Amino acid sequence: MKTHCVYVQLLAAASFCGQLVSGETVSEINGNKYLSPYNGKNVTYVDGLITAKGPNGIWIRSTTPDKDDRTSESVYVFDKNFGKNLTVGDVIQLNGTVSEYRSSKAYVYLTEIVNPKLVRKVSSGHAATPLVIGKDTINPPTKAFSALDDGDVFAVPNNASLISSTNPTLIPRNYGMDFWESLSGELVTVKGAHALTKPNNYGDTWVIGDWKVTGLNSRGGLTTVDKDANPEAIIIGSPLDGSKNPVITRVGDVLGDITGVVSYSFGYYTILPLTALKIAKGVEPALPPPTSLVSDGDCGGITVGSYNVENLWAGSDHLVNMSAHIVDYLRGPDLVFVQEIQDNNGEKNDAVVSANLTLSTLTSAISSLGGPEYEFAQIDPVDDKNGGAPGGNIRTAYLYNPEILRLRNPNFGSSTEANQVLSGPELKYNPGLIDPTNSAWTASRKPLVAAFETLDGKNSFFTINVHYGSKGGSSSIEGDARPPVNGGVDDRQDQMQLTAEFVADILAEDKNAKVIVAGDFNEFAFVEPLENFKKISNLKDLDEAANVPELERFTYLFDMNSQELDHMFISQALKPKAQYEHVHINTWVTAAQQISDHDPSVAKFNICKR
Ligand SMILES: *[C@@H]1O[C@H](CO)[C@@H](O)[C@H](O)[C@H]1NC(C)=O
Ligand SMILES: *[C@@H]1O[C@H](CO)[C@@H](O)[C@H](O)[C@H]1NC(C)=O
Ligand SMILES: *[C@@H]1O[C@H](CO)[C@@H](O)[C@H](O)[C@H]1NC(C)=O
Ligand SMILES: *[C@@H]1O[C@H](CO)[C@@H](O)[C@H](O)[C@H]1NC(C)=O
Ligand SMILES: *[C@@H]1O[C@H](CO)[C@@H](O)[C@H](O)[C@H]1NC(C)=O
Ligand SMILES: *[C@@H]1O[C@H](CO)[C@@H](O)[C@H](O)[C@H]1NC(C)=O
Repeated sequence: MKTHCVYVQLLAAASFCGQLVSGETVSEINGNKYLSPYNGKNVTYVDGLITAKGPNGIWIRSTTPDKDDRTSESVYVFDKNFGKNLTVGDVIQLNGTVSEYRSSKAYVYLTEIVNPKLVRKVSSGHAATPLVIGKDTINPPTKAFSALDDGDVFAVPNNASLISSTNPTLIPRNYGMDFWESLSGELVTVKGAHALTKPNNYGDTWVIGDWKVTGLNSRGGLTTVDKDANPEAIIIGSPLDGSKNPVITRVGDVLGDITGVVSYSFGYYTILPLTALKIAKGVEPALPPPTSLVSDGDCGGITVGSYNVENLWAGSDHLVNMSAHIVDYLRGPDLVFVQEIQDNNGEKNDAVVSANLTLSTLTSAISSLGGPEYEFAQIDPVDDKNGGAPGGNIRTAYLYNPEILRLRNPNFGSSTEANQVLSGPELKYNPGLIDPTNSAWTASRKPLVAAFETLDGKNSFFTINVHYGSKGGSSSIEGDARPPVNGGVDDRQDQMQLTAEFVADILAEDKNAKVIVAGDFNEFAFVEPLENFKKISNLKDLDEAANVPELERFTYLFDMNSQELDHMFISQALKPKAQYEHVHINTWVTAAQQISDHDPSVAKFNICKR
């Protein structure tokens, strides 16, 4: 404790020399790292202006700031009753204990003062002026999250270090988490905010303000690209006045200015707004256009769709709406790769594995809406061995238009028989699964390999429909583990390796073979399992081959990011004139209006024999 004269800066012309005793400053309490140097210690005579009050505490801002960008000048004082007789605009002096709090060990600690004791109220009626982010502060960094990620938030191995044990010195100019940490407890304004994703059920919504960003897509979201996962975004949490944020916000909706305090909750840096968000202007148009890719009806231009239909079974509420998407938005592609087809009775956990009722209900609905009269091809899995919702027995399947395509020499493999590439190349089973008893597929979907041909038998191509292991078990992108845990990444590495080797076998037989691998990869194109997949399979990323602009490559929303989990990869022979479109029918709409959590995609290829 220091005892000397202080000049309470906000009290013009008033000096309290000899009357006030000064103790630790807020910036000393926060320090220039993640963890407070005073953690667990008592602090006394801490001066601060009350900038905000919440249901469980108040926020104070130092009246004696330092000049260090790294040390936040504000801090949360956690106590339900402490603020009862105090008001925003009061300058107070308090004693208390510094505490580092987190509700889960996967999270970063929040520095707070607990057991506060009011020493005195110094004065009142001061303005609590928020800092405008990007104007009164530096700009939030736009690419990297933490120095501990070593330049790549998606690098493997994951969880190589922990912020809580390494406790790095903050570099707010370079690292997004450091930037937000350096403003912990601060009252801030986000000017000209717009939404980046749909809110969660509580209305928590990711936003950016009018500061400089990278990765902005044409809808107003931020797309994840290699080494840029958008730490310039911040999530707006529960309003301090008890009001509720809207749950109908969409990516791109204009929200206007948002004022609140910077905190950390549920694994993310958060702004707790003073009051609920308002949608100032809804983004337009409400719905995306249908794909422009329509089948030519012959080998010169066949269309191929891919859609994760999200736990679809014969009795699904969303089956008809899903069918309408396939007809109206995908325009009835000649071949559709579908993922997450459940068995006939969905999540009823019995011995049923057949999905023929699910698929025939889907194909009837499609034809009754004016779409093709699809036939389907798939292989029932072994009960309870494919992961996903218990009892659902999800699998991948093909829908194909029998007026355009047929299976080439059909010979269905079983759930346990491994498909093989025979000379020709031909498939041992058509369709058949890739090495289905391999432990790489434990609790996951086995890729469905098939060969299709035009009805004259002259033009053929190979397909592999994949749905790799999920990202379940991932840790927060702004959590303690660095790089964050990318759940299931090792499984996906093995799964993609097996798939790539199968493709390599086809191309070893015929380097001009036409091969399409599509589906839900549960991974980004620039992360190790997919880098490895591309190298071994020698397939091309269709987004690149068809020149889809990099920032428009997204099929899914997660955290602050628009991102691509669903891909198509093609062999060189399919590259000439290949076209590809992502149809943002689910990412653009409200949470209540989405039919699946993924967007579908459509491609168009020339499959004529050359
Ligand atoms: C810290 O303050 C608390 C009262 O809030 C007191 O009980 C405790 O003894 C103090 N600890 C030290 C080390 O002074
Ligand atoms: C608030 O003020 C009232 C009246 O002066 C007093 O009884 C009460 O103890 C005070 N509450 C707190 C939390 O300081
Ligand atoms: C604050 O701490 C100082 C120094 O320990 C002590 O003298 C004073 O009584 C404390 N005030 C309150 C209100 O706890
Ligand atoms: C589904 O397959 C079973 C036999 O595996 C058959 O009895 C049943 O009729 C089929 N149902 C449909 C709708 O095709
Ligand atoms: C990260 O590793 C630490 C051990 O260093 C472990 O305690 C922690 O649970 C791991 N975190 C996650 C999210 O897996
Ligand atoms: C599903 O389709 C029906 C009929 O067109 C429509 O009324 C309903 O709003 C759709 N549901 C959703 C979630 O879009």
